[in-house]
Amino acid sequence: MVRLDPGRFRPVEAFGLKFPNAVGLAAGFDKNACAWPAAAALGFGHVEIGTVTALAQPGNPRPRVFRYPKQEAVINRMGFNNQGAAAVARRLSGYPGPGLRRIPLGINLGKSKVADIDRAAEDYLASFAVLADHADYVVLNVSSPNTPNLRELQDEARLRQLLEAVTGANRERSGRPGKRRVPLLLKISPDLGFPQIDAVLGVIADFALEGVIATNTTLSRPGVFSRVTESGGLSGAPLRARSTEIIGYIARATGGRLPIIGVGGITGPASAAEKLDAGAALVQVYSGMIYRGPFFGSALARALSDRQRL
Ligand SMILES: Cc1cc2nc3c(=O)[nH]c(=O)nc-3n(C[C@H](O)[C@H](O)[C@H](O)COP(=O)(O)O)c2cc1C
Repeated sequence: MVRLDPGRFRPVEAFGLKFPNAVGLAAGFDKNACAWPAAAALGFGHVEIGTVTALAQPGNPRPRVFRYPKQEAVINRMGFNNQGAAAVARRLSGYPGPGLRRIPLGINLGKSKVADIDRAAEDYLASFAVLADHADYVVLNVSSPNTPNLRELQDEARLRQLLEAVTGANRERSGRPGKRRVPLLLKISPDLGFPQIDAVLGVIADFALEGVIATNTTLSRPGVFSRVTESGGLSGAPLRARSTEIIGYIARATGGRLPIIGVGGITGPASAAEKLDAGAALVQVYSGMIYRGPFFGSALARALSDRQRL
């Protein structure tokens, strides 16, 4: 019997929000904000919807998701298929807003495929303008490998431009009556080297972002994946160690002061606990749920809560 009694979960506070437990559903599962109420009912402590782009777009041709069950891994090249920011905002306006929902709802924003990389900030701003009112937190996704050039937004100069624009818009909206500043997080790639991570952390500090999500999928092809020819981002068990390494690195580099959401290769309580031990405040899952089913999140949350009570 799976028990969803919320009393059994240990709540977490991070970037000014209260989470009923530490385990969230990662971006990419609920791209259009259709499934998050069900995910909340299944016991997830938060859901990150998206990636949403300013313009509706179909994503890459199918097939675009490939399962590797023996390795508990997935390769995807979805390419930000989604209905666009306006449609998602319309859907969310039919639900209670931030602070009134059972769980926090993050909104993950990306760049529309047709938007030129030099005009990326405008594209993110267009999504932010219509979606910020609906978000408990907003994520700037600059790390999907499936939108050409997107990861260049992790380069220091481009990142600075993007964060200047979005933090500026956030400050401006918080000056309006009844509006609050939305916590802003950056989602990074596991394929960044440590000097690049240092540069990203410098920019995050300069613009006082509330947190970082580590990590997105990888373009590397470790072990048996060296022989796999499908293009796209690899997730699941083969990503576990690298993602945890980056979480640990960020926690040390920031003296534990920057909240981290740890994601990548969580397949059970041990791999989730490893990320919390490395310094993550919260964790997220996606590939693990593909193989272990819809109760995976609540089972993890329960195991982590029991462990933290010991
Ligand atoms: C099919 C699929 C689609 C994804 N789509 C997105 C996305 O739209 N935006 C995003 O930030 N991450 C996306 N991700 C990445 C996940 O959110 C997560 O960062 C990554 O899969 C590592 O976690 P996991 O090993 O638990 O899957 C996607 C992952 C998968 C498997």
